[in-house]
Amino acid sequence: MLDAALERNVDLDYSCKEGSCDTCTVRILKGMENLSPVREEERDMLGDDLIKEGHRLACIISIHGPVELVQEQR
Ligand code: FES
Repeated sequence: MLDAALERNVDLDYSCKEGSCDTCTVRILKGMENLSPVREEERDMLGDDLIKEGHRLACIISIHGPVELVQEQR
């Protein structure tokens, strides 16, 4: 999703682009059903509580429909 967002000039912070930092963390506001399932490295990086609150790693998720998100200062 990160690459698609950057190609569309969406301004998102990122660093590693491989799921090993949390710089690209976004919070999904709408469209969670349009995201790929949570991967183990994503769960390890963010933890269950953030995942339940809708946080995901933009660089390792894929989308197959409309999604609304924010990137919050952490
Ligand atoms: S940019 Fe590092 S986890 Fe996404």
